Amino acid sequence: MSSKLPPTTTDAGIPVASEEHSLTVGPDGPILLNDHYLIEQMANFNRERIPERQPHAKGSGAFGYFEVTGDVSKYTKASFLQPGAKTETAMRFSTVAGERGSPDTWRDPRGFSVKFYTGDGNFDMVGNNTPIFFIRDPLKFQHFIRSQKRRADNGLRDHDMQWDFWTLSPESAHQVTYLMGDRGVPKNWREMNGYSSHTYMLFNEAGEKFWVKWHFHTDAGDGNAHLTQDEADKMAGQDGDYHRRDLFDHIAKGDYPSWTLKFQIMPFEDAKTYRINPFDLTKTWPHDDYPLIEVGKLVLDTNPVDWDTQIEQLAFEPNNMVPGIGLSPDKMLLARGFSYADAHRARLGVNYKQIPVNQAKNAEVNSYSRAGKGRTVNAVDPVYAPNSYGGAHAQQERELEASWHSDGDMVRAAYTLREDDDDWSQAGALVRDVMDDPERDRFVDNVAGHLADGVSEAVLLRAFDYWKNVDAKIGERIEKKVRDMLGGESKAPGMASAESIDGYQGIPASA
Ligand code: HEM
Repeated sequence: MSSKLPPTTTDAGIPVASEEHSLTVGPDGPILLNDHYLIEQMANFNRERIPERQPHAKGSGAFGYFEVTGDVSKYTKASFLQPGAKTETAMRFSTVAGERGSPDTWRDPRGFSVKFYTGDGNFDMVGNNTPIFFIRDPLKFQHFIRSQKRRADNGLRDHDMQWDFWTLSPESAHQVTYLMGDRGVPKNWREMNGYSSHTYMLFNEAGEKFWVKWHFHTDAGDGNAHLTQDEADKMAGQDGDYHRRDLFDHIAKGDYPSWTLKFQIMPFEDAKTYRINPFDLTKTWPHDDYPLIEVGKLVLDTNPVDWDTQIEQLAFEPNNMVPGIGLSPDKMLLARGFSYADAHRARLGVNYKQIPVNQAKNAEVNSYSRAGKGRTVNAVDPVYAPNSYGGAHAQQERELEASWHSDGDMVRAAYTLREDDDDWSQAGALVRDVMDDPERDRFVDNVAGHLADGVSEAVLLRAFDYWKNVDAKIGERIEKKVRDMLGGESKAPGMASAESIDGYQGIPASA
């Protein structure tokens, strides 16, 4: 071997004696505890895996930039959204329910997360490839995800559990329609769209406020490139990392994926009277009412070099807002504002924002956080505020935060219903007006194939009603197809009721 290669060292930089032989008492004798290099290698290996993300565990990402091509300065003062601004970005794509090693081509929404390293601190847009979501109250999120993951008894994913939850949650119809259509298995990440899904706030230099939905349209096609269920099933066996490989290979050969960011802007006052509650995450805003406005281009041109530190430890959080952008009264978004930072503290440790990929690399950090596990940045005196020793102090209090008026008794209640706030209309319009005949046929096949695979009779009956509420004709087609596939009633047992299980409610099962 060439002597020009660097010497292997321990993590302390000490040259190691051997790459091949541990230290023993004679060639056939026992291993010595003072072989600290062997111990360091074993210890490091045993700690290589960090916990996977609870949802969205399987994914990958890359780096690039965002460049403003339009002019939205009258809506927002965010510096990275001003005409001509160019900002470094990190991105991660993911599936929702599968574990870290699960196939990329399982049917699922896809995560679409972008971190903008702006001069005012990091701004994160943590969206999906669909413009809406399954539920509208965060109390149901944990239950929804559990229903998509694995059963307690056999550790298996279970279509009965999924449809049980969906059919008891009619607000899911719009998103389940997307999921069972072509967007449920995108061909790759490069050719799919991304959405904020939620409504956010924008505010300008004068303090005027607007509501906004973000749309990232792929520059490669119409955003509907997909795999059929059959192609997806085959690919899951052939190459579980198909989407990850596709992204990496295209960037490596200089074929950079890109998206055009567009905004739908709603004047602040419209939200009070618009026929659809604009903060309900299960609804879109028709483009005729609020047209798309071009903002800029997002490009991915750089692959990670260390996937574990750059992608697995990448931490997105919807509460990372910069001046000019804010949250909105969407209850889901407000809960997400808490949940993600909590998840990162659990998964990566309290000082996760000092991991290089999460650092605010283009902004000065003058925080009073200090010490704690994994801290690498020195704290400086004074370590408290207010102080009279020249330490950092909060400025422009009023100008930095998005706000809106809110008043009322404390209640647990659904949003107040408006004229067009039913659960079925937008899902029905998607099936009837947006899908063409071939997509509608694939949609019926996908739903029927899913329902005929392990869903119990009681849940099936509810599912037929669910689809007839979306669209009578499509519901009948689905029912007929499922009955044909099953040759009559479902024989799937469903779950044993909880009370019948020995050990339910924490009482240990007797040996
Ligand atoms: C990941 C919670 C709704 C998109 C996650 C994670 C949590 C979480 C805890 C794992 C974070 C991590 O460990 O890094 C929630 C809660 C929600 C919610 C409590 C509702 C109340 C949504 C919605 C969207 C979304 C509506 C899309 C519009 C994502 C994405 C990721 C993610 C893309 C992966 C981020 C990454 O690439 O690292 N969510 N989520 N989530 N969530 Fe949500």
